[in-house]
Amino acid sequence: MAPHDAILGWDEDTNAAAYDAFTRAHPMYNVTSRDLARRAGLSDVGLVVDLCGGAGATARAILDHIPPGARVISVDNAAAMQRVGRRTLIDSRLSWITAPAEHLADHVAHGHIGAVVCNSAIWKTDIAAVFAAVSRVLRPGGRFVFNIGGGFAGIRHPDEQAVSGGPSLNTLIHDVAARDYGYIAPPKSADAPPKLPLETITCELAAAGLAVVDTEIVAQHSTMAEKKAWLSIPVFSRPEGDFTHAQRMRILETAYAQTTPDAPSVTSWLVVVAERREPPA
Ligand SMILES: C[S@@+](CC[C@H](N)C(=O)[O-])C[C@H]1O[C@@H](n2cnc3c(N)ncnc32)[C@H](O)[C@@H]1O
Repeated sequence: MAPHDAILGWDEDTNAAAYDAFTRAHPMYNVTSRDLARRAGLSDVGLVVDLCGGAGATARAILDHIPPGARVISVDNAAAMQRVGRRTLIDSRLSWITAPAEHLADHVAHGHIGAVVCNSAIWKTDIAAVFAAVSRVLRPGGRFVFNIGGGFAGIRHPDEQAVSGGPSLNTLIHDVAARDYGYIAPPKSADAPPKLPLETITCELAAAGLAVVDTEIVAQHSTMAEKKAWLSIPVFSRPEGDFTHAQRMRILETAYAQTTPDAPSVTSWLVVVAERREPPA
């Protein structure tokens, strides 16, 4: 059973508030959202879907890129995330739908969406179902732009390799948890294949009628201090297992005290731009 103050997921108000506060105080989700919005080719769209849009960090970026008269629909299955977004991001061009990404095609008109953008979430979904739904709602030539965390895609930007000198905050967290709480990390096979390599993504997109038009491995530069703030968001806090959130935060403080706050930290992302194929003539 989960500890009494464990945070179980995205659909919890405490987590949603902490996540939203993080996106406003730190650049991480704004930078990745802006990057995707820029690649989505939004200059002539009428309607854009922000898929797995959470509390609206990506919608904020999209709204800055769309032409006058265009609209954005933010879709997420966590009502708590959208409650924060509805309260803090008031814009008449934006509407919210609480639904799983896999059910997108049940909620928006087919063949009319100019672009679908999905920041920091695709690996949490059933990609075959999501790609099929995205293909159904996109207009021919419309873009589907998303990113995949480097660990899931099995890629690493050279900048990440260059900074990986000392132990990561995650490693220090596991060390502190082992020392102070007798924590034993679940065994992880060093050569386990990545969950979503580009080949898998490309095949799944093609099966749904979507063609990859561009990919890039990008590095996101941050600091140990930002990483610590991110690991304080309940859904991201570590280690996994039978800890209360308060215990995790004590472990994090002890681990963080062994680092330098402005030490660089780099995260790798695989960015994918796909396009809905024109139907055969
Ligand atoms: C890291 S947040 C990203 C939110 C937003 N794109 C941003 O950049 O701030 C991940 C979001 O994905 C949502 N999510 C995860 N799986 C989902 C699914 N199958 N359908 C819809 N939303 C999902 C979560 O509820 C959460 O709001």
